[in-house]
Amino acid sequence: MKSIILVGGKGTRLRPLTYEVPKQLLPLVGLPMLECVFSSLAKHDVDEVVLSLGYLPDQFMEAYPFGSIQGVKLTYAVEPEPLDTAGAIRFAAETAGIDDTFLVLNGDVLTDLDLSTLVSFHRRHQATGTIALHEVDDPSRYGVVTTDEEGRVGDFVEKPPRESAPSNLINAGTYVFEPSVLDAIAPNRRVSVEREVFPRLASEGSLYAMVDNAYWIDTGTPESFLQANVDVLHGFDVGRHLEHLDGTTWRHPSATVARSVRSRNAVIDEDCVVGAGVVLENVVLMPGAIVRDGAQVRNSLVGPRAVIGSHSILGPTCVVGAEYVVPEHSRLSGSVKLGDI
Ligand code: GDD
Ligand code: MG
Repeated sequence: MKSIILVGGKGTRLRPLTYEVPKQLLPLVGLPMLECVFSSLAKHDVDEVVLSLGYLPDQFMEAYPFGSIQGVKLTYAVEPEPLDTAGAIRFAAETAGIDDTFLVLNGDVLTDLDLSTLVSFHRRHQATGTIALHEVDDPSRYGVVTTDEEGRVGDFVEKPPRESAPSNLINAGTYVFEPSVLDAIAPNRRVSVEREVFPRLASEGSLYAMVDNAYWIDTGTPESFLQANVDVLHGFDVGRHLEHLDGTTWRHPSATVARSVRSRNAVIDEDCVVGAGVVLENVVLMPGAIVRDGAQVRNSLVGPRAVIGSHSILGPTCVVGAEYVVPEHSRLSGSVKLGDI
């Protein structure tokens, strides 16, 4: 079966990190998030992935020049301009010549959802489209779905205010579609699968949804990207053995870390340098980041080659962009984004 993975978004909530690196190539404990998404595909019956690209497409092609990831064939569909989610699906399906039941995945979701069960559910109900659902406390930043007891979708409402959300079941960003869905998407213009296609299919009674209790996280915000890293440190399986893990700290073998560093839930990536007396708690240091002596960094993301000055105290929720230099003795906390924003 073919699968389209949507990776063409600009990743605005993860700026300034996503100015330099597209969201799905940001490292999740040292490995591009996209490869973690692939690890679940390889386990199921997916033999070809079409990467639906728009934003910084060259980086994907340079990262995977041989046309495969983890043994799964890879092709590219590069949009001439952003077509939004449904426009992107149609464009990618045409580019890859999709003419049979196919899968679509939001490329920023980390999950161990059983795709084979979802496909069986779709076939059993003879659906035109089937959505995987996940239950959350606050559905307001997601697509919210109601179904009848058969799984037929009644409402699909994208990002409703919390008070008016009709359920706590959200669109988990994994779909099974029949090719007939494509005919209903206008070509060569922006079309949203969430705001246009799903409500229409629901009103026609041909959209189904299956609740799943799998691990699930959308990594698209600083908090959730950090949480996904922590979950991998704590054993969420992304299809590889995590070497160089010491307690809950992962350090790339090329990193230089002083002995007096205290760390918990920390990722210290390639060529990072961490000085004496540094404290790291719930932190991702991306390749080449430097944390100078005596600095304390908590609940924060530090971009590639950024420098945290000595004795600075950062966090919670600081996002330091690539190559940004935080002066020594800085005190920063609370949704601070540092860099060219
Ligand atoms: N090719 C292409 N072109 N891809 C796009 C475009 C586009 O114009 N716009 C967005 N994407 C990709 C993003 O890269 C991402 O992988 C996916 O489509 C979803 O976009 P997000 O920007 O991450 O959307 P969201 O997280 O706010 O909401 C979506 O995901 C939620 C679950 O994670 C919606 O599908 C919600 O309904 C859903 O609940
Ligand atoms: Mg998202």
